[in-house]
Amino acid sequence: MTSYKDLGLTNTAEIFKKAIKNGFAVPAYNFNNLEQLQAIISACVETKSPVILQVSSGARKYANQNLLRNMARGAVEYANELGYDIPIALHLDHGDTYELCKDCIETGFSSVMIDGSHLPFEENVALTKKVVEFAHSRKDYVTVEGELGVLAGVEDDVSSEHSHYTEPDQVEDFVKKTGVDSLAISIGTSHGRTKFKPEQCTRDANGILIPPPLRFDILTEIEKRIPGFPIVLHGSSSVPVEYVAMIEKYGGHLKDSVGIPEEQLRKAAKSAVCKINIDSDGRLAMTALIRKVLTEKPDEFDPRKILGPARDELKKLYMHKNNNVLGSAGQA
Ligand code: G3H
Ligand code: 13P
Ligand code: ZN
Repeated sequence: MTSYKDLGLTNTAEIFKKAIKNGFAVPAYNFNNLEQLQAIISACVETKSPVILQVSSGARKYANQNLLRNMARGAVEYANELGYDIPIALHLDHGDTYELCKDCIETGFSSVMIDGSHLPFEENVALTKKVVEFAHSRKDYVTVEGELGVLAGVEDDVSSEHSHYTEPDQVEDFVKKTGVDSLAISIGTSHGRTKFKPEQCTRDANGILIPPPLRFDILTEIEKRIPGFPIVLHGSSSVPVEYVAMIEKYGGHLKDSVGIPEEQLRKAAKSAVCKINIDSDGRLAMTALIRKVLTEKPDEFDPRKILGPARDELKKLYMHKNNNVLGSAGQA
């Protein structure tokens, strides 16, 4: 059994307290490989931001959980070597069973999400409570994120065609009964690069899709029911038009891509939203640069020269998020 403290990691309790007090959101970036991890850590060290490294089911299948966990340990040393200590949490993203959460907790994750959002309320409560009881019984308290309300789109193995916004009337009961440390809610964000159908959007003068606004009214109601409690937003990529255009310029096809406008995430980050999950934007940045290099340098065959520029772009993207969207820069 390994404790996250032995790996130099931290749980999310203290960083969320600071996020609520200072009105920012902690970045939760997914990683599956070395280049993504290097970009996340170097961007967060340079901006002096705390960070949550997220491992999804897809990442576990692709890269192996043990390898990812040891990469997170390496990330702590890497941050150190870069010259500034930042809080780093290792978080299981969209855990779907008690057994999986238990396994992650026992092997050094400092935080887990148990996603029972697709279950009836009482079943979600029972599953979440079971995970919380185990996580909190550890000598080194592991923090737990639950979810109420369903996001549209695909959440790993949990899929839902339509979103069901979180019911403000249920949140207090859920938090009390489960003992969770943070709560993911549904107010109009969704996973992936096509967050809305074109018919749900309007278009600007250039034909760019403009999505419907997030339901800040629901967020306000939730905050009234559980004041000061850490709220999480999943599905918070903005799907930058520049990356989509670049991917299409170099041969890709990403029709009808649309994300959450950054100004809306900035507004959310100033509220009780203290963790914002971003994965798809990183995928777009990497794909755009990989396509560019492969097109412009057809004789290149060294993976480092192909992935290196993608890694640099990813770092730029994360620095921008920390500085201008989440407000987490300077908060480590
Ligand atoms: O919420 C889902 C994340 O973007 C991870 O997706 O399972 O394809 O890694 P993945
Ligand atoms: P995006 O697909 O919008 O990046 O959301 C990622 C996420 O919520 C991971 O849990
Ligand atoms: Zn998610």
